Amino acid sequence: MDIEAIKTQIESEIQSINSPQGLEEFRVKYMGRKGVLAQLTGVIPTLPVQERASFGQQVNALKEKILLIIKEKQGSLSGEKLMTQKGSGCDITMPGIARELGRLHPISQVMDEICTIFSRMGFSIVEGPEIETEFNNFTGLNIPLDHPSRDAFDTFYLKSNSKLLLRSHTSPVQIRVMKSEKPPLAAVVPGKVYRPDATDASHSFMFHQVEGFMVDEEITFSDLKGTLGLFAKAVFGKDIKMRFRPHFFPFTEPSAEVDISCIICKGKGCSVCGRKGWLEILGSGMIHPNVFKHVGYDTKKYSGFAFGMGIERIAMLKYGIDDIRLFFENDLRFLKQF
Ligand code: PHE
Repeated sequence: MDIEAIKTQIESEIQSINSPQGLEEFRVKYMGRKGVLAQLTGVIPTLPVQERASFGQQVNALKEKILLIIKEKQGSLSGEKLMTQKGSGCDITMPGIARELGRLHPISQVMDEICTIFSRMGFSIVEGPEIETEFNNFTGLNIPLDHPSRDAFDTFYLKSNSKLLLRSHTSPVQIRVMKSEKPPLAAVVPGKVYRPDATDASHSFMFHQVEGFMVDEEITFSDLKGTLGLFAKAVFGKDIKMRFRPHFFPFTEPSAEVDISCIICKGKGCSVCGRKGWLEILGSGMIHPNVFKHVGYDTKKYSGFAFGMGIERIAMLKYGIDDIRLFFENDLRFLKQF
């Protein structure tokens, strides 16, 4: 008798067994008193002496295998019985309960997307504290405390220590990074900023910005234009147009606000862009020499650009959202759309 052939036969037979009775028949056929194994064992004494030992071992191995197969089948048959039985507490025929996956808040998603775009261009990602010193938030950035431009960055001061405040923009992280590192450097800074604005559809006392800056020898305004051009196309699509409008920031000179062609009307003029065809997306410029002086950089040797954008604004434009408050209400019907 060919033991290998018996093994193959066993494996196919066991597949089709689906009841305890079937399994019992199988057991008797192979393990019974007159079963296949008994017959095989009976053959042993008739073999030439030198073949007996190895044949005996094969028969033993086959026996182990059959016992194991029977045990496994018993397990699966009784398991299925248990699970399909009513009142057993476990019914595998019931439809499953889908677990809802969490997701990132749209602001986090847009912030991640922006940081990824810049990190592909070689910028590192750094963060700074939300409680800042007056120096980093203003003075170091060439904003004297009595300067009228400071009004634009109306500020929450800490009661306990009037030299500390909630940062009103992410630009103070420029000072932190430049004080601790030497050029060449390029970094983007995502984070929360605070301004005591009355809340309405476009204002919130807390919002998010991403700051970016690059400092090295011979950094020019065209580096700024090239970098922001790539960024705008990556976020808003390759057909987007961009323009730089002269502006004023105390910490950059020259300064510019950057507009993109309106993503709704493509520049023709509509209610979203106020018939202008353009949407403002960020502030930027060449880092002011006074800022470099504050951090001890050689203003003859180094130049650099900086920019800063509001994430809520970018997200609102990207997704056509008309009220900033939606980001902070955490209504799942809103959040689930992203
Ligand atoms: N900090 C400016 C703001 O909050 C934005 C900005 C950053 C402008 C860097 C120029 C350079 O409005």
